[in-house]
Amino acid sequence: MGSEGKIVFTEEQEALVVKSWSVMKKNSAELGLKLFLKIFEIAPTTKKMFSFLRDSPIPAEQNPKLKPHAMSVFVMCCESAAQLRKTGEVTVKETTLKRLGASHSKYGVVAEHFEVAKYALLETIKEAVPEMWSPEMKAAWGQAYDHLVAAIKAEMKPSP
Ligand code: HEM
Repeated sequence: MGSEGKIVFTEEQEALVVKSWSVMKKNSAELGLKLFLKIFEIAPTTKKMFSFLRDSPIPAEQNPKLKPHAMSVFVMCCESAAQLRKTGEVTVKETTLKRLGASHSKYGVVAEHFEVAKYALLETIKEAVPEMWSPEMKAAWGQAYDHLVAAIKAEMKPSP
């Protein structure tokens, strides 16, 4: 399950994540696209990792296949926040973590890409809910993301 010791994630922190997500959800397709366009702007080489972008004549900003991945990142961070508060660990199903670890190693995702994605995620949320945004909200999303990514990374094997 979680790769780390018990983590203190408070009810208030979970509430900040859930509250902002419940507003963003309505707009999640657009936000998801925005998130990945930010990632591609900072780290253009990551675009080539996506089979459906590599092999497609459709520009990334119009590619409907980007949305589900971006949604997974948002939704899994939310789930991670809820689990962190309840159990102090990221309790994503072990098979799911193993699969994500193995697949992301295979795609060539490295630590820096997760860092870029974190920055892009926090910027996207800040722009989506400016009236709610606060240092506490940034820290809550940041922690939920960091613990989820640590759990994924723990399942990433270096390629042989
Ligand atoms: C695919 C989740 C971060 C690149 C996927 C899939 C999920 C997922 C559920 C589909 C299933 C699979 O292929 O295993 C996540 C989560 C992330 C994250 C939860 C962070 C919390 C990243 C980052 C990158 C990335 C930072 C690179 C910038 C990819 C690629 C695919 C993928 C290239 C395959 C897309 C395709 O060609 O079909 N991810 N991901 N992911 N992810 Fe991520």
